[in-house]
Amino acid sequence: MQNLLRTKILGQNHVFEPLVNYIKIGEANLAPDNEPKGAFLFTGPTGTGKTETAKVLAQVLDKELLRFDMSEYKNSEKFLRDLTVKLKKNSSGLILLDEIEKGNMEIFDYFLQILSEAKITHNQKVYDLSEYYIIMTSNIGSKNIMGQNNFAIARRIVERLVKSHFRPEFLGRIRRDCQICFKPLEYEVMQQIVKQKVEAEIFRLQEKEYSLEYDENILPFLMNEGVNPEFGARPVVQTIQKYIALAIIKADKTSGLLTLIDNQFILA
Ligand SMILES: Nc1ncnc2c1ncn2[C@@H]1O[C@H](COP(=O)(O)OP(=O)(O)O)[C@@H](O)[C@H]1O
Ligand SMILES: [Mg+2]
Repeated sequence: MQNLLRTKILGQNHVFEPLVNYIKIGEANLAPDNEPKGAFLFTGPTGTGKTETAKVLAQVLDKELLRFDMSEYKNSEKFLRDLTVKLKKNSSGLILLDEIEKGNMEIFDYFLQILSEAKITHNQKVYDLSEYYIIMTSNIGSKNIMGQNNFAIARRIVERLVKSHFRPEFLGRIRRDCQICFKPLEYEVMQQIVKQKVEAEIFRLQEKEYSLEYDENILPFLMNEGVNPEFGARPVVQTIQKYIALAIIKADKTSGLLTLIDNQFILA
């Protein structure tokens, strides 16, 4: 499991040991009774792999991913409704509460009940969450650590902001080593990610009957066009998809070599 995570999520190796340890405990049914199988808080800069790690984890565990974009929930009622609808359809899985700092604060009372008792009450009905993993993500401090190359310092800044933003009862219910800060992506890591995403996009397009290869010369070009340290890997992923799609359309063919000629990204 660790190896698969390592090949998918680059530059974040420090994340996997604590994560995988608690997943093993959960999978061996050794987690404390009446608690979720595991509960994690992923912090750190935006676009560095927090949400992606949750998705990959659901895949490797072959579990349903129940994802909630917390910025959509301005009150707890809608959240409870959406959560319980999904809980009725599943009996186990991975619940991803994404960008929790953007959710309404009153929802946190329900998080407390989820974390400490693995249950939630809605319309007089009690739902059991003891067969679920809970992953929460937060981008708190993303802006504050821009350009901070020392990860130890960056992590401390994030931890301080997390502490001042979330209530101690809430953080107290997530094990210290399950509160994991993701690293800002270094230049060399971004280079690896660009290559990985080009290959992933070519693979994705195979399903749509495209047969593409690429010349290494497109990689530094895409790096230049797409990288914006403020948003981590997200913009470069979008850039890759855009350039490949436009090259296909312009060449009007379904196979060939993606390459850079006269600084033009083309399908030759
Ligand atoms: N460390 C990483 N390794 C590989 N891909 C990454 C990494 N970080 C981000 N990405 C890619 O960038 C995009 C945004 O990542 P995401 O996990 O959603 O960021 P966030 O940390 O804000 O949740 C996704 O397409 C993801 O695959
Ligand atoms: Mg995210």
